[in-house]
Amino acid sequence: MPHPAIARDKAAVITGAASGIGKATAARLASLGMRVYMLDLPGRPLDAAREEVAGHAAETDHVIALPCDVSDEAEMRGTAQRVNAVSTAPSFLMNNAVTRVGGGIWNPAADWHKAVDVNLWGVVNGVRCFVPSMIEAGAKAHVVNVGSKQGITNPPGNTAYNVTKAAVKAYSEGLQHDLRNTPGCRVSAHLLIPGWTTTGDREHKPGAWLPDQVVDHMLAGLEAGDFYILCPDGETTPEMDRKRILWGAGDITENRPPLSRWDPAYKAAYNAFEP
Ligand SMILES: NC(=O)c1ccc[n+]([C@@H]2O[C@H](COP(=O)([O-])OP(=O)(O)OC[C@H]3O[C@@H](n4cnc5c(N)ncnc54)[C@H](O)[C@@H]3O)[C@@H](O)[C@H]2O)c1
Repeated sequence: MPHPAIARDKAAVITGAASGIGKATAARLASLGMRVYMLDLPGRPLDAAREEVAGHAAETDHVIALPCDVSDEAEMRGTAQRVNAVSTAPSFLMNNAVTRVGGGIWNPAADWHKAVDVNLWGVVNGVRCFVPSMIEAGAKAHVVNVGSKQGITNPPGNTAYNVTKAAVKAYSEGLQHDLRNTPGCRVSAHLLIPGWTTTGDREHKPGAWLPDQVVDHMLAGLEAGDFYILCPDGETTPEMDRKRILWGAGDITENRPPLSRWDPAYKAAYNAFEP
């Protein structure tokens, strides 16, 4: 049974499509005959990615690169107008673009603003600029917002990134609640939570997944109607993820200190919990 939203001649919009998981998603959807709009910052990487992705499409002009800074609402709105002028409303929107700028508590405020502007506002702008027309079209459609396990378990290190991904989780949950309570709406929101995935020019290490594996898992999750599309990887099993998420929630319900998983006083207890 063909999927109603992931189908030939339907339109897909993917942000951060010049690299990694976004590019792999663009290539897969192009190979399925979708009209794919690849949004990313202007420049050679976007142009090169479009060429590469077009190689997967039967009709190369169905793969369109649209330079767009997702943190800029006016740019995103203009981009949505361009898409809607030539296509029916997208049946697939993936808010995937990310910056790793951010860092720890005392990193410069500018880095924190950048993290929030791209990783959170990029998602909010994508939803506000594209989703109303997707609802109005009345057809089955998906919004996939890309989160992270770091937005759930909050490991020490890049706290700014964790904060933005926690916000994307909360935002996406609220979005899906809103969509399912909108009369006649056939658009559903989903939170894709990749595991460790080799992207960009990073060396592929054993234990990491490749972007294509994330795409496989995402498409299976959409098919199953899952909201939380939680990816394992070669190192972390679904059971390990389950334990880590439960332990993090337990910091509150068991009145432990925050991030107790990384507190030496709780090392033995944690190791007993997730052997
Ligand atoms: N790779 C992993 O291990 C991993 C793990 C968990 C979650 N994720 C999430 O998956 C998603 C994709 O990650 P990836 O590793 O494939 O990313 P990546 O770094 O390979 O690509 C991100 C893309 O976003 C683009 N981008 C950055 N700022 C932008 C802006 N302002 N406007 C438009 N585009 C912009 C970049 O140019 C780049 O092409 C991200 O949301 C990331 O947080 C990745």
